[in-house]
Amino acid sequence: MKRILICGANGLLGQRLALILSTQTEYEVLNTSHHRSFVFDDRLLDYTQLDITRKGDVKSLVSSFQPTTIINAAAATNVDWCETHREEAWRVNVVGVENLIEAARKVGAKLIHLSTDYVFDGKSGPYTEEDRPNPISYYGKSKLAAENALRMADIPFSIIRTIVVYGQGINIKQNFPLWVLKSLQEGKQIRCAVDQISNPTHVGDLALAVVRVFEMNREGFYHVCGSERLSRYEFAMHVAEVFGLDGSLITQVHSAELQQSALRPLVTGFITLRAESELGLKGMNTREGLTLMKRELQTAGKP
Ligand SMILES: NC(=O)c1ccc[n+]([C@@H]2O[C@H](COP(=O)([O-])OP(=O)(O)OC[C@H]3O[C@@H](n4cnc5c(N)ncnc54)[C@H](OP(=O)(O)O)[C@@H]3O)[C@@H](O)[C@H]2O)c1
Repeated sequence: MKRILICGANGLLGQRLALILSTQTEYEVLNTSHHRSFVFDDRLLDYTQLDITRKGDVKSLVSSFQPTTIINAAAATNVDWCETHREEAWRVNVVGVENLIEAARKVGAKLIHLSTDYVFDGKSGPYTEEDRPNPISYYGKSKLAAENALRMADIPFSIIRTIVVYGQGINIKQNFPLWVLKSLQEGKQIRCAVDQISNPTHVGDLALAVVRVFEMNREGFYHVCGSERLSRYEFAMHVAEVFGLDGSLITQVHSAELQQSALRPLVTGFITLRAESELGLKGMNTREGLTLMKRELQTAGKP
């Protein structure tokens, strides 16, 4: 039987993976995350607390569970926080991955890892899997360092890079359309960048990509994102439209005016031909993704 260890199962992507994979009878799944408790504690899914930065803990858990695949959805994902908390960000995004690599090697497990468009400088998107990374933020640098650690490791692996992931989840970090939604519902004016252009990705599409890579036993790099490339301002306007809110509260600005701690790669987006042809995946467009998110919020009883 295939045994899957999921790291970061409390996160936006991790929750989806936990729900999809833990309900398949042909797999034995152990969900892990940094927090003591699991967001799905009420569903009787297997869960153990695991901090991936703690080498000894990773080693002993992996050697006792003996996974055939480790899926790492754990990361420090707040780009501005990473810029100002470099040591902590490095420990999670790089040392944590090195710990998983070492443990995976010992038991012969494959590692499926998640990365980001922020490994690129945003000067010439959309990017293919073969384009040369050149990160301009500390978050991007740490994610590239983890990619490089995996490239150098003599274990089977896949790296799925993705972009601006959104969707609904339990106690998750606020993602861009959720922030827009909350602000507009409260009648707050917000400023959104016209010069940050990329393909937002519904978390359901990303989870499906991870599951396909796992089930089809694929290796190497995959670019996975939504099918529409647009600015943050346009994305926010779609949120207003899909949720029937007042788009005049959204003001267009340039990134420099936002004074964010970390630089953003301005023009990214991915060419996803590899994921389309090898995994049979085509991401939703923004309207489809937001409409699905609206339905999921309603199902979860959120306003
Ligand atoms: N979100 C995006 O826009 C985006 C874009 C591109 C790429 N990605 C990549 O996609 C992956 C998944 O992102 P996401 O949005 O699902 O992230 P997320 O919602 O921020 O969740 C990350 C999870 O990682 C866990 N974690 C943090 N430090 C940990 C540690 N030391 N040990 C174990 N678990 C730890 C946290 O667990 P607890 O809750 O238990 O503390 C958190 O729930 C990441 O690799 C990210 O870099 C995300």
